[in-house]
Amino acid sequence: HIQNRDVLQKSFEEMISTLPKVNFWGLPLDLYQFQGFWLTLPFLQGALSVQQQFQAQPTDIILCSSLRTGTAWLKSLTFTTITRTSYNDSTTPLLSKLPHDVVPYMEFDHVQFSTNRHLGSPLLATHLPYSFLPRSIIDSGCKLIYICRDPKDTFVSFYHFIARYSKSQNTQIIQLDEAFELFYEGVSMYGSYWDHVLGYWKASLEHPDKLMFLKYEDLVENTVLYLKKIAEFIGYPFSSEEQQQGVPENIVQMCSFENLNSLEVNKTGKHREGQENLELENNIFFRKGKVGDWKNYLTTEMSQRLNQRTLQKLSGSGLSL
Ligand code: A3P
Repeated sequence: HIQNRDVLQKSFEEMISTLPKVNFWGLPLDLYQFQGFWLTLPFLQGALSVQQQFQAQPTDIILCSSLRTGTAWLKSLTFTTITRTSYNDSTTPLLSKLPHDVVPYMEFDHVQFSTNRHLGSPLLATHLPYSFLPRSIIDSGCKLIYICRDPKDTFVSFYHFIARYSKSQNTQIIQLDEAFELFYEGVSMYGSYWDHVLGYWKASLEHPDKLMFLKYEDLVENTVLYLKKIAEFIGYPFSSEEQQQGVPENIVQMCSFENLNSLEVNKTGKHREGQENLELENNIFFRKGKVGDWKNYLTTEMSQRLNQRTLQKLSGSGLSL
């Protein structure tokens, strides 16, 4: 068994030594370009494990996203919807667990610890690009939801996230304008961001019954409406009685930024406690939760360039961001 593991580790090391590599935004970490996307080693290892080992069940519901586009919010909303007959406002696990701890990532938490299919929920999450997903997800008929966000807010949110992470590791991230240039060129986690979005967008056009495509901004604009659509899509629709009782509104309130951000677990708890390089403070996942915060960080020129980039990358796809 150990010999087998050594052989696997050696072939992994050989494989990564052939990949293009760049430093990740000044951190003591590298990004490797694999199948067209930039990933750090733990993410790459997770991606390969999923491709080799993950077996989807037809009942799985997989929440997909790049980084900083509203994943934790989508996790809370879908988890609360699916478990609404088992838990209420005062018993939901969201009161004592970070949203990322109630819906595990298949490339980290599931593959390493087999912790999905717990808490009575069929939910899993992934940051993998669509083209990385193992065949069993495509073939099993399980449902996928993808959430994306304005690239300007996504960049600003991601920069702050990495800046806080680097501080906790006593390292220094590059300046925002330098990181902007790299993000623009697609050099960021799971970059290029636009290619990540486009992979899922195209798949959602091909399989609208299987993949629901959401934008963070739409969810902010009309959370109740989109929550009802999500519930319908994943097969947990709200009955008219529940709608009269205000159940969807209640879930929206429970999962609001203000509410989750004020919970003790999200202020002081730890995520992946004790895991080297992966431990994070829960409050790193909550910043402002606003649309348009990029205005406070990007110059007019930067925002225009990013808009142009978005137009160019999405041109002909039918998608606007
Ligand atoms: P900001 O950094 O702009 O505040 P992800 O969960 O994919 O990492 O996305 C993180 C972004 O979603 C952060 O954006 C975060 O503040 C915001 N967010 C977290 N919880 C939220 C919630 N319940 N409602 C709305 N936005 C939320």
